[in-house]
Amino acid sequence: MVSEATIESILQEKRLFDPPAEFSQQAHIKSQAEYEQLFERAKADPEKFWAELAEQELDWFQPWDTVLDWQPPFAQWFVNGKINISYNCLDRHLTTWRRNKAALIWEGEPGDSRTLTYAQLHREVCQAANVLKQLGVKKGDVVGIYMPMIPEAAIAMLACARIGAPHTVVFGGFSAEALRDRLVDGKAKLVITADGGWRKDAIVPLKEQVDKAIANEAAPSVENVLVVRRTAQEIAMQSGRDHWWHECLKQASADCPAEPMDSEDMLFILYTSGSTGKPKGVVHTTGGYNLYTHITTKWVFDLRDTDVYWCTADVGWITGHSYIVYGPLSNGATTLMYEGAPRPSNPGCFWDVIEKYGVTVFYTAPTAIRAFIKMGDQLPKARNLSSLRLLGTVGEPINPESWVWYQQVIGGGRCPVVDTWWQTETGGHMITPLPGAVPTKPGSATRPFPGILADVVDLEGNAVEDNQGGYLAVRYPWPGMMRTVFGDPDRFRRTYWEHIPPKDGKYVYFAGDGARKDKEGYFWIMGRVDDVINVAGHRLGTMEIESALVSHPAVAEAAVVGKPDEVKGSDVVAFVTLEGTYTPSDDLIKELKKHVSQEIGAIARPGEIRFSDALPKTRSGKIMRRLLRSLAAGEEVTGDTSTLEDMGVLDKLRQGG
Ligand code: WT7
Repeated sequence: MVSEATIESILQEKRLFDPPAEFSQQAHIKSQAEYEQLFERAKADPEKFWAELAEQELDWFQPWDTVLDWQPPFAQWFVNGKINISYNCLDRHLTTWRRNKAALIWEGEPGDSRTLTYAQLHREVCQAANVLKQLGVKKGDVVGIYMPMIPEAAIAMLACARIGAPHTVVFGGFSAEALRDRLVDGKAKLVITADGGWRKDAIVPLKEQVDKAIANEAAPSVENVLVVRRTAQEIAMQSGRDHWWHECLKQASADCPAEPMDSEDMLFILYTSGSTGKPKGVVHTTGGYNLYTHITTKWVFDLRDTDVYWCTADVGWITGHSYIVYGPLSNGATTLMYEGAPRPSNPGCFWDVIEKYGVTVFYTAPTAIRAFIKMGDQLPKARNLSSLRLLGTVGEPINPESWVWYQQVIGGGRCPVVDTWWQTETGGHMITPLPGAVPTKPGSATRPFPGILADVVDLEGNAVEDNQGGYLAVRYPWPGMMRTVFGDPDRFRRTYWEHIPPKDGKYVYFAGDGARKDKEGYFWIMGRVDDVINVAGHRLGTMEIESALVSHPAVAEAAVVGKPDEVKGSDVVAFVTLEGTYTPSDDLIKELKKHVSQEIGAIARPGEIRFSDALPKTRSGKIMRRLLRSLAAGEEVTGDTSTLEDMGVLDKLRQGG
């Protein structure tokens, strides 16, 4: 959620940062003219543009016969092409000097570390793939992955991809209930997890959550559980069902050729929040996703072989999929994975990691940057960050002041900053600077990636005028786009492609974000326009949190809104009415917060719960969230309240219920 103050500062932003000359000279895309040329070429003939890249950049077992088959809103890319993303991320580098190059550098929270070369990573992926096969996983079977940030998370994903078993990674911070919903929806046959993982000086008991999620046949499709030993505390192992990863791998052959997959075979499902209570299973397929993550990684992070590239996301989110695992490895890069998060025992741990490994490209979220600003400049200034040459941000709008701090204090004024706008649904970066080519404006994600026909439109799909607010939309398919909602193609059609009604057979992708475009064609993203709130870069559906709240016996009705938060971007505020026999109390607030953590995960825990006798509704019974948002933010309630059924409710809410 973008606060009024941020919007004000964004609207007044005039600064322009040119790419540093020495950066541009060596960059993949070296000048604005080159960017414009690429952009125009892609726009004139998108299929030709993507086909040339697919041929140059990837290894195919069999060429495609049609670049794009577009039956709106369903797209197929590189039809009948045969490819395997694990092959492109591993095997093809083994025949080059990269064989013994570091593919994955890992740093654990307690300070342990591990480096895997391409040859070593390939070997473990092959072994893990063979273990999956032995446990009965076949091409097309879905595998759940619920892991800490350890190399085995990436190994598990690549092993699945190798044998054509779509993975569904569930963020380790989600609760057993949320995990179960996803395993059930995806009909996962096997789950890969760990005994635990380190997070903020404590152990997250992942295996215990898996046990809870699948107990009593609650997720009947799950036949086996593979458990990585990470924290070595006592855990229950159910014989016949649970297997130790290290024991299985020890016996497994390292010979496992990559399965030739159809370009449109499903690579993974990743659940994300939308406007309704049920998370959507976003489906990505093989060939188009491989190309799109490959080329965006290459051009946006300007990767070269000497880079040490670090993205701080978790593999449980799309950023981890596209920009820790698939994009960087497909490019033969060195990707760094860190298990920890800044924590009281080491608030400067990120800067330690940069110094220790000589990180050159660093990609993180605005919420982290704002937290660092609060901690003060002395932490980063006490470390040597001179290895950095490029900085990136993702997840939410960045306010210009944070952008400038990032550029100055972390980047020492010499590193370009790429503010990348994209979504789980888009697979990869959509609006972003190419760092050697596009001058940046703090707070703007700048311009579309070549081949992306982004626009700011009204609800009829007409482009709005420069500097007018509107909805962010995309007018043509791209290879990395999601293909459908798992098991619900109709929801895919309705949510993304019919929100703006198609005209003359032309479909427009509706992103769910508000935006404006300035005279130079720069995009300024204003945040979600639907019932999604972005808390510390995590995407949450208000309806999901409301469902979790009303599943508690004390709660009659709940309405959840976002409230601007200096560090997290937004925080969750819940307005709750109670069942007759319950009375408001601090204990009940605590209990309800805990209940939401248990139902969804700690990331969804409301920062604030307010009780009230009634919620403000229209005469047709719709909760007036706009009013609640103003109340939560402590703002004057302005605008039209004439549809409010009971004006008295508003006064009561203002007085605190
Ligand atoms: C939503 C997508 C894609 C990676 C992480 C989030 C917001 C993302 C930016 C940015 C402004 C951004 C949007 C978008 N968002 N990046 N650079 N500037 N807003 O993926 O969980 O699918 O969330 O995150 O609101 O719709 P996600």
